[in-house]
Amino acid sequence: MKPILIFYASRDGQAERIARTLAIHLNTSVQLCDLKTPPAQIASSAAIIVVASVRYGRHLPEALQFFKQHAAQLAQTPLAIASVSLSARKGDGSPNGYLKKLIHQHQLSPFAALSIAGTLNYPRYGWLDKQLIRLIMRMTGGPSDGLSCIEYTNWPQLAAFAQKITAYLRQDHADG
Ligand SMILES: Cc1cc2nc3c(=O)[nH]c(=O)nc-3n(C[C@H](O)[C@H](O)[C@H](O)COP(=O)(O)O)c2cc1C
Repeated sequence: MKPILIFYASRDGQAERIARTLAIHLNTSVQLCDLKTPPAQIASSAAIIVVASVRYGRHLPEALQFFKQHAAQLAQTPLAIASVSLSARKGDGSPNGYLKKLIHQHQLSPFAALSIAGTLNYPRYGWLDKQLIRLIMRMTGGPSDGLSCIEYTNWPQLAAFAQKITAYLRQDHADG
């Protein structure tokens, strides 16, 4: 079987951690790639998975660039997307507003799409970012103390996402 390619876009490391954990769950031939240094061409693969975090209301620019640049290949390859944000901590994993917007804007057709929570790490943020995150947390009923450090990632949700991908690819190959 061709490998599964996992591309990730991360600033503080949580989307990368999620991508690496997903690779372990998939338990097959997987290649990980940081979208900060993307390949010019995407190798032929069984599936493409993109894990990207949200910052300032949008997915990271390198992820948006990737969807734009490789639209044709993404339309022909099974695609799964995991969107990482703090507001996803309130959801059940189904696509939230950020992910729905991304799918719509780039006319994507993922067979699996997950909105998964990331981390809150106030000590890491500069003054301005801290105020923004405090605002987001206040609006969504989370800690706005400017001090908390909490990993909200729902790891069982990620394991279920991996299972969905595995089942889909098994089915896809059984059909083909
Ligand atoms: C500067 C900044 C802006 C952020 N903006 C948003 C946002 O608009 N909406 C949201 O739900 N989460 C937001 N987050 C939370 C991140 O999505 C979350 O911390 C995630 O775990 C970051 O992933 P990364 O470690 O891979 O960069 C923001 C975080 C930072 C530091």
